[in-house]
Amino acid sequence: MAPRCWRWWSWSAWPGVRPLPSRSTPTPGFCKKFSTQETTPQICVVGSGPAGFYTAQHLLKHHTRAHVDIYEKQLVPFGLVRFGVAPDHPEVKNVINTFTQTARSDRCAFRGNVVVGRDVSVPELREAYHAVVLSYGAEDHQPLEIPGEELPGVVSARAFVGWYNGLPENQKLAPDLSCDTAVILGQGNVALDVARILLTPPEHLEKTDITEVALGVLRQSRVKTVWIVGRRGPLQVAFTIKELREMIQLPGTQPILDPSDFLGLQDRIKGEGPKARSGRGCPHPPGSYQTGGESHGVGESTRAVPTGDVEDLPCGLLLSSVGYKSRPIDPSVPFDPKLGIIPNTEGRVVNAPGLYCSGWVKRGPTGVITTTMTDSFLTSQVLLKDLKAGLLPSGPRPGYTAIQALLSDRGVRPVSFSDWEKLDAEEVARGQGTGKPREKLVDRREMLQLLGH
Ligand SMILES: Cc1cc2nc3c(=O)[nH]c(=O)nc-3n(C[C@H](O)[C@H](O)[C@H](O)COP(=O)(O)OP(=O)(O)OC[C@H]3O[C@@H](n4cnc5c(N)ncnc54)[C@H](O)[C@@H]3O)c2cc1C
Ligand SMILES: NC(=O)c1ccc[n+]([C@@H]2O[C@H](COP(=O)([O-])OP(=O)(O)OC[C@H]3O[C@@H](n4cnc5c(N)ncnc54)[C@H](OP(=O)(O)O)[C@@H]3O)[C@@H](O)[C@H]2O)c1
Repeated sequence: MAPRCWRWWSWSAWPGVRPLPSRSTPTPGFCKKFSTQETTPQICVVGSGPAGFYTAQHLLKHHTRAHVDIYEKQLVPFGLVRFGVAPDHPEVKNVINTFTQTARSDRCAFRGNVVVGRDVSVPELREAYHAVVLSYGAEDHQPLEIPGEELPGVVSARAFVGWYNGLPENQKLAPDLSCDTAVILGQGNVALDVARILLTPPEHLEKTDITEVALGVLRQSRVKTVWIVGRRGPLQVAFTIKELREMIQLPGTQPILDPSDFLGLQDRIKGEGPKARSGRGCPHPPGSYQTGGESHGVGESTRAVPTGDVEDLPCGLLLSSVGYKSRPIDPSVPFDPKLGIIPNTEGRVVNAPGLYCSGWVKRGPTGVITTTMTDSFLTSQVLLKDLKAGLLPSGPRPGYTAIQALLSDRGVRPVSFSDWEKLDAEEVARGQGTGKPREKLVDRREMLQLLGH
């Protein structure tokens, strides 16, 4: 077999948070002391990815009576841990064991198959619960906003990842891998995940939880060269050392780095060791080097500016991997379209007492699972502080009882965590025949049928 290769290339690209009202003057109606002796705090979390689960875990641990309902639009839990994390990184998915313990708590319930903002509104949730935490992640991709983006063969890395990881909405993607050369725009860890999946010999993926359909397409793939194209240089890449090392060690694959990108680099990084978890770990001095794109500024503030140089790069597949993006969930919830986040102060949504956010929708679509954990614990701490200070509505709230009635009227039938456990058992059983940890169910209709819905 001819060796496969990946190439490093740099490209030149074109490139208010308001404080809450003072806590000493709480909104009328929110100032009564919460009677922690009698009332069960009913808390609702929207989204069952790491942010949702870590928020719930912290709330349950630090308040002995709080009840947490986790609403999720998919039929299955765990967000990007299931639909984002690469199939050849199974160890990362061990966090699912911790999330499962949380979901099995008597004081926690998973309410899958409920799209918040469509099946139930945020004001309805706020009416039913003492507090609502929005942890719904970043489901869109960042568009390139350049001509040609809609051409066939141009695909977002988000959709490609969803496709090989079994996200139901991406199962019709059918990427055409009959070409010799693929180009990935962006140099983050998602770009490397996608490059690795394209170049890994398919037999090395056979024992992972990649879908059988994706594996079949990858077996037929004729892609031999993958360009990983960035707008800045090796000192500013967003991917991390561990993931780069994996690329360099890919069997049957040769990395090709453009030597001109690395000229003088040794001198610039003298005394600076690269950080294990940050590809941007090497600060650089004023007047730092230029690559295919021109770099202006110092250190983290270095910006790419157009050079006017143009180079043609023939390819049959172009994957844009320049980041994810959150959507607004409900007209009643403030949203900053520029930053793509819900404006918040320490997780408190601005001008919305009792409404909080955590995870990617709180701080933007960057950070690994542990970053999301820390961030979610902070939101939970703030919520519990507000609860203790009597800043949340007083008196009992109906919680899920009220929402269940609404959903039933609207013909929405939620699924529970024990429903997920049935689907999980089915997936594991289907995987056993081929030595895979699971064969993911990807068809919503089939999943609902298996649950007797
Ligand atoms: C491709 C990819 C690979 C990654 N690999 C790694 C890795 O190997 N290691 C690592 O540490 N980190 C990895 N990360 C980062 C990690 O996945 C994120 O830090 C983390 O998932 C963010 O958590 P979140 O809960 O904010 O968002 P998400 O995980 O996206 O969870 C949000 C949840 O909200 C649900 N939701 C959305 N809208 C609604 C709605 N309207 N109603 C109800 N529910 C809704 C979604 O279905 C989803 O389940 C990866 C990220 C990506 C994109
Ligand atoms: N194995 C893992 O641990 C793993 C795997 C996948 C994802 N993740 C995490 O998930 C998060 C999201 O990853 P990501 O790769 O989507 O995002 P990311 O880390 O933010 O990387 C985005 C890349 O796109 C580039 N980019 C953005 N806008 C651009 C434009 N207009 N033109 C050209 N290039 C542009 C960025 O370049 P600039 O730097 O120049 O802006 C950067 O190289 C990250 O925190 C990542 O670490 C982790």
